[in-house]
Amino acid sequence: MSGIYDDPELYQLACAYRDIPTEADALLDWAGRHYGGAQAGPRSVLELAAGPADHARELARRGLSATALDINAAMCAWALDRAARDGLALDVVEADMRDFKLPAQFDLAITMLNSACHLFTLDDMVSHLAAVAEHVVAGGLYIMELTHPADYLSSASRTSSEWTIEADGVTAQVRWGGPLDAIDPVTQITRESVHISVRKADGTIRTVTDVVPNRFWTATEVTAAIKLASASSGGFTIAATYGDFDATTKVDDPEAWRLILVLRRDA
Ligand SMILES: C[S@@+](CC[C@H](N)C(=O)[O-])C[C@H]1O[C@@H](n2cnc3c(N)ncnc32)[C@H](O)[C@@H]1O
Repeated sequence: MSGIYDDPELYQLACAYRDIPTEADALLDWAGRHYGGAQAGPRSVLELAAGPADHARELARRGLSATALDINAAMCAWALDRAARDGLALDVVEADMRDFKLPAQFDLAITMLNSACHLFTLDDMVSHLAAVAEHVVAGGLYIMELTHPADYLSSASRTSSEWTIEADGVTAQVRWGGPLDAIDPVTQITRESVHISVRKADGTIRTVTDVVPNRFWTATEVTAAIKLASASSGGFTIAATYGDFDATTKVDDPEAWRLILVLRRDA
């Protein structure tokens, strides 16, 4: 059975509300502030659970040596094709972010748009952090963009679960989760209902309906997982946290809508 991640074109349209160049600016700004590696800043990036690899491709455009990793073959093919079309060098690896082995270390690793929600258990998160640590140079960074826990733990969500994208004659109507999708209080997993309908300029309509399991993580839980993971490999320390794609919004500000963790690989 195919789902939303088997349809990279629809997925990318659904998520086109993001301003990728601005998010890449923020990633590079945070890297400049917190990078502790040998040279002035990061020269290589590994995007995990990369999907279409928008951020890896944007960073490749800015001169970083970029690698994208995803478990889904269709996403990997799409990322590779997009990079080739734009004349960008991008290595793409089909692998599981919980346990992977690449022949290189990177200055910067990133996981965008809450893709760590696909780590469903503490064991998954620990094994993921240990694998990432092995692939980040000493002083290098791992930046995780997570959903702000207020979306799950408070009565007022800080993000919207329904939106419309209009671009180049294409209209995409998206519903991704929402108040009717209950969290399992034991596992912290929400089986999020996803419905995307795209109307192209020629009038054709395509829809995808899916249920995507999503585990939310708090900073406290990730901190505990970092400690557990560092017992098996060199660890990470949380160097900074941010509540938005800028340097000023704090995670506990009322307007914060993301939980962004900047982890630094211990020397
Ligand atoms: C919400 S999408 C995000 C894609 C991308 N990070 C972005 O910003 O658009 C989540 C991605 O995680 C991938 N994924 C899920 N479980 C994974 C795993 N265990 N290892 C690697 N990738 C995984 C899916 O195939 C999908 O492409």
